[in-house]
Amino acid sequence: MSKKIDIHKHKINVRGKNLYIWPSDTDVVEITDSPMTYTALFTDIEKYHDKLKERILELEKLEEHTHRVRIGGNKVRYVHEWETAEAKLIDMRAAAFFCQAVGKDIEDVVATTSWASVSRKHDYLAAHSHTDCIASVVYMLEPGNTKNDNGLDGRFAIIDPRAPGCCTVEEGRVTSQISPSMDPGSMIIFPSELVHHVHPYTGDEPRITIAWNFKLREGA
Ligand SMILES: [Fe+2]
Repeated sequence: MSKKIDIHKHKINVRGKNLYIWPSDTDVVEITDSPMTYTALFTDIEKYHDKLKERILELEKLEEHTHRVRIGGNKVRYVHEWETAEAKLIDMRAAAFFCQAVGKDIEDVVATTSWASVSRKHDYLAAHSHTDCIASVVYMLEPGNTKNDNGLDGRFAIIDPRAPGCCTVEEGRVTSQISPSMDPGSMIIFPSELVHHVHPYTGDEPRITIAWNFKLREGA
């Protein structure tokens, strides 16, 4: 039987540096308790962000890896197929976030899909939710260079009438958005059924996020 992975002790070798899947200084903060949404901030991003960006932008050019959404940017599919140590690290960090949220071992969780979103000027993501999964995770790799100072440029937001955090005036009536600030290295997790979107992005440089949908392995 293979040994269980302890996410707090297991390290991944990234170009000669051993990086913990879940470093002890990772700050996890509750965004809202209803629904349960959390953000985690990784502080060792200088050790893997540049190569991860480079790899995504390289794969983005290849038709077999990239789905070009008419509005909403390019989707570079399947983190586990990117074949770099940096990709393996961030893939495991996302799985580790989900396994902690549901109180399971990392071996019990499965990503139903994963992709990087590369957005350019005027791209946005229409409101949607995800099927066949429990929770979704989004990682901010590169926020780009936003132009507007209204705080909404390229911003991720949840807008769901089932979420009390969106209905602060009257139950079931959306009058607010749950829109956590996302610095580079921040990862958020939220229930997949919640309707979410990304506000239009106006920067000149690519904005890059990575997303996963997770469920539990059968029998877990
Ligand atoms: Fe989504």
